[in-house]
Parts: sequence; structure tokens; C-alpha cells
Amino acid sequence: MNTRYHDVAADHYDAKWGIDFGDLGLEQVSAKVRKALGPGAPERFERTLEIGAGTGYFTLNMLRAGMIGEATCSDISPGMLATLEANARRLGLEVKTQPADAEKLPFADASFDLVFGHAVLHHIPDLDRAFAELARVLAPGGRIVFAGEPSRYGDRLAGVPKRAASALAPLWRRAIGARPAPPAEGGAPDAALEGFVDVHAFAPVELSRAARSAGFEEVRVSGEELLANWFGWTNRTLEATADPRDVPWGWRQYAYRGYLLLQNLDRRLLEQRLPPAIFYNLMLTGARG
Ligand SMILES: C[S@@+](CC[C@H](N)C(=O)[O-])C[C@H]1O[C@@H](n2cnc3c(N)ncnc32)[C@H](O)[C@@H]1O
Repeated sequence: MNTRYHDVAADHYDAKWGIDFGDLGLEQVSAKVRKALGPGAPERFERTLEIGAGTGYFTLNMLRAGMIGEATCSDISPGMLATLEANARRLGLEVKTQPADAEKLPFADASFDLVFGHAVLHHIPDLDRAFAELARVLAPGGRIVFAGEPSRYGDRLAGVPKRAASALAPLWRRAIGARPAPPAEGGAPDAALEGFVDVHAFAPVELSRAARSAGFEEVRVSGEELLANWFGWTNRTLEATADPRDVPWGWRQYAYRGYLLLQNLDRRLLEQRLPPAIFYNLMLTGARG
């Protein structure tokens, strides 16, 4: 189902999720990876593998930032990898691609210094098998980094601003002078599978347990995005109810800049002080002994 869903999603994925390969994308991805790795980690990794690489958000931005050397991207969806290859060509970047299920990686033991992924672990049915594979393909001393994994409690908390925004949407549309969103023609082709591809939302301890059982050391799970996420979901929910042609430029600027501002506030003030479980996204790092 993940292969089918993401093959269909590949063409419009970057536009739907605002995947950026400019300065913003580079900054966002580098900051996430550095934050997940923590202080004292190497600045650069030579042989890297991304699992569930999608259209290349992490690998291509990390290559542009000079954080990684020889990059291999794998994904269960050949459609996503085709979009990734087109993105890499457009950016003039060199990557190897390999269709692969994270539960059964077609790479030799100890082939990589860093294995990473963004928003992928929650799609994988057998996490223990996947973590055993990550440990196998990593060289001794190599690291794993995963970011953008949905937090079970963070997701429940984000339901509050989503519900509030749905209730306020008619008032908001009147205030900005927007018509309701036109009905979707026949629905998105992949919509029927949407409910099946997300297999997990995690409590932090579930992620750390899976990594430790595969033999990883120095395992750390942290949380990111709290206020930024509530703000982002409120705006996304409101915008989804309006005809996109009627949403004013000023509103879009407010939503974009407000999100970045709150993300900064989360990073500087809240992420070190509050329990990871309440944040919307979880990050995981660990080292192979
Ligand atoms: C939410 S997308 C994230 C893509 C990309 N990492 C990003 O951040 O934009 C999840 C990706 O994981 C891939 N995926 C799902 N199940 C997988 C599996 N078992 N093994 C490898 N990749 C998988 C999907 O095809 C999809 O490209």
C-alpha cells in the first residue's frame, strides 16, 4: 500500500508538502539533523544511506549543505525515487538510488557511516526488523538519525487547534472575503489509501526501545515543534476550507513568517524544557557500537 500510495503521490508531493530545495530547505534540514545528532557529533559523514528518501528533501539538502559525501537514497516507491532523480538532476547533485523496503535492505554489512530518514519510521510495519537492518548496514561507530516521526500525544494535542479552526472557518472566510473551497473533482486518486499507510504514532519510549533492542548505543529521543505546529495546523485547516484564489497574499505571509517565528521559539525555549512526548514530531539518534 505504501508503494502504491507514494507512487501516485510522487508527482504532486513537493507542492503539497512545500518541499523546498532553496535556502529555507537547506537551513531547515541542516538544523534538524544537527539538533538530532546533538553536540560533539561529526560535522560531515562520507557514506550515507537515506531510507524512505521520498523526493529527496533530506539527502539533497544535506548534500547542498556539505554535510554528507557519497549519498545513496532508497525508498519502497520507485515513483518517489524517479521524482528524486529529477530533483537531483535539476540541482546538479549526484546521488545513487535504490528501490528498497527498509525491512530488507539490499546493501552489504557495514557499508555506511550514517543512515537516516525523515517521516518514514511510522510507515514501517515491522520496526524491529528495520532497526536490525539499519544496524547491519552501518559501519561500527556509525550513526542513525530520524526526524519528523509523529508523536502519539503530540498528535492528540494538535487535534485541539484543528477542531477549533474547523469551527471558526466560516467566520474566518467572511473576515478575509474568501469563498468556500470548490468541491474536489472525484477526490485525490490516492485518498482511499491515506488511512492505511501510516502504521504508527510513537511514544518516545517505543522509539528508543526499538533502537536499543537492535544494539544501538547513546540512544536519544527528543521532541520538536509545539507552538509552531498548533499555529501551522490552525492555518492549514482554515486555508483548506477556502477557495485558494481568495486567500490573500498578506495572510499567506503571516502564516509563513508566524510559523518560522514560533519554530524558533520552540527551539530556543521549549524543546529543552518540556517532555518530548507532547511535541508534534519526534527525533531519534543512536550510534552503532
Ligand atoms: C512521508 S514520506 C517522506 C519522504 C521524505 N523522507 C520526506 O521527508 O519528504 C514517506 C516515505 O517513506 C517511504 N516508505 C514507506 N514505507 C517504506 C518502507 N517499508 N521502506 C522504505 N520506504 C518506505 C514512502 O514511499 C515515502 O516516500
